[in-house]
Amino acid sequence: MILLGVNIDHCATLRQARYRAAAGAEGGAVEPDPVEFARRAEAAGADGITVHLREDRRHIQERDVWRLRESVRTRLNLEMACTPAMIALALKLKPEFVCVVPESREEITTEGGLDVVGNRERVRACIAAMSAAGIKTSLFIDPDTPQIDLSAELGAPFVELHTGAYAHACFTPRRADEFERLRRGVMRARERGLAVNAGHGINYENIAEVRTLPHLYELNIGHSIVSRAVFSGVDEAVREMKARMNF
Ligand code: PXP
Repeated sequence: MILLGVNIDHCATLRQARYRAAAGAEGGAVEPDPVEFARRAEAAGADGITVHLREDRRHIQERDVWRLRESVRTRLNLEMACTPAMIALALKLKPEFVCVVPESREEITTEGGLDVVGNRERVRACIAAMSAAGIKTSLFIDPDTPQIDLSAELGAPFVELHTGAYAHACFTPRRADEFERLRRGVMRARERGLAVNAGHGINYENIAEVRTLPHLYELNIGHSIVSRAVFSGVDEAVREMKARMNF
């Protein structure tokens, strides 16, 4: 069975659109609450909750991650940049997983995954610090051999393969090639002993193909679930995605 990590960042995006400067006096009017979204997603069968605490605090705020740490009953996956400040925060927060994602231009490959090759020592130090604290690290990388091989060499237990290029190619002739690239990436990662997650741009349509990738551990899905929840509610949005992932 493939697990579903629900990324709730875009619930916070909606809140920030109106309440960026909220000082507390607004009380219960500050909505929608990502923590409540997470609670409902878990009740509907989410296997984990994922948030990206960006350095620019564009959506999720630090207060959210602490409230989530209190309330999440499944597993909390903190997406974060590989910076001293974020590493220190993760060590205090103690999420079950961290997923290292690129934020600055120098850390990004052409496709948008983390450039592990170009940031080798920083990534190595991050994995070591997390593992000493009992936190499992995943590296968000493109499905390319050098990035996969080095992730394994540096001791990451997980990689999350970036499905964005595939998702963008879904209505173009490149779809089959991008899918094949992902398939090879998963195989390579498994050969190197890595557990494999995937995410970015997965929706209720392309899940029919994504789910056929072999050996997937977890999919992290955000935008499409939050979008569907606007019309059908969190419960149905999560149940429908889980039903399409595993049948
Ligand atoms: N995985 C990672 C590492 C991400 O950074 C994101 C958010 O961009 C996602 C998964 C979820 O992507 P989406 O919102 O497109 O489903």
